Amino acid sequence: MTTAGGEQAEREQELTGRVVASFEGAPDERLKQVMQSLTRHLHAFLREVRLTEHEWQQGIEFLTAAGHITDDRRQEFVLLSDVLGASMQTVAINNEAYGDATEATVFGPFFVQDAPQAELGADIAGGARGEPCWVSGTVSDAAGNPLPGARIEVWEADADGFYDVQYDDHRTAARAALVADGQGRYSFWGVTPTPYPIPDDGPVGAMLAAVGRSPMRASHLHFMVSSPGCRTLVTNIFVRGDELLDRDSVFGVKESLVKDFQRLGPDDPTPDGRLTSDTWTRVEFDIVLAPGEQ
Ligand code: BEZ
Ligand code: FE
Repeated sequence: MTTAGGEQAEREQELTGRVVASFEGAPDERLKQVMQSLTRHLHAFLREVRLTEHEWQQGIEFLTAAGHITDDRRQEFVLLSDVLGASMQTVAINNEAYGDATEATVFGPFFVQDAPQAELGADIAGGARGEPCWVSGTVSDAAGNPLPGARIEVWEADADGFYDVQYDDHRTAARAALVADGQGRYSFWGVTPTPYPIPDDGPVGAMLAAVGRSPMRASHLHFMVSSPGCRTLVTNIFVRGDELLDRDSVFGVKESLVKDFQRLGPDDPTPDGRLTSDTWTRVEFDIVLAPGEQ
């Protein structure tokens, strides 16, 4: 492919300029900025790769298929954003580092509003298959003050790699909302995270296969943590030693979020006296919220 030169380049540039100018009259300044910049970058991309008309058609078919598979339970466009790193770039732009504040990462499509409230120390697995995992820690602000009453929402896939919402039976499992105690502490029993593929039976999965990329996510557990006066944190914790840490399909892994999941057996005493006949794990995750808006 060669870049156009001379009169051809001028014609292409002139078209870009006309489209950019067409947004001049937008009454909303921000919308104008976004649309003009989108036009410049989109045209630059088309010109750089010298897109063929056949490829343009394939692109339209890809987006059409993404629309067709999307419904209120499946969001193929979020998946597309995730595998292109656009979700993580947006997270990076909007969650600047602040002191020791815990780093944010990808939200994913499996959060559910109004998850059931669980007592501290409760088993949130709710029948989800998996090895028991005791998760505990504190929530504090960036000055080190504990945040009693902080809201901690957690959700995770079962050992078969599925979230409750991916089953057709309307179950609620491996998700809960907890409230930190007077010292900002929280704890619960969940399941030890295991690797799973992002939904790959649609156009995004086909694209990953075509480019030789894996749909697998590194093992993780999702958190959304909020407290008045603090920036709401959306994050995951990852399992040290997981071989997918450097190949997460949605680029969500950050070193500070990789935690030691201590492996324990039936003879090891559990924190709350729960009896286990099998192996279990425990992990500590202290959460620090940056100042900001909820
Ligand atoms: C998830 O971790 O739940 C997820 C993230 C991005 C795409 C698909 C799933
Ligand atoms: Fe996930």
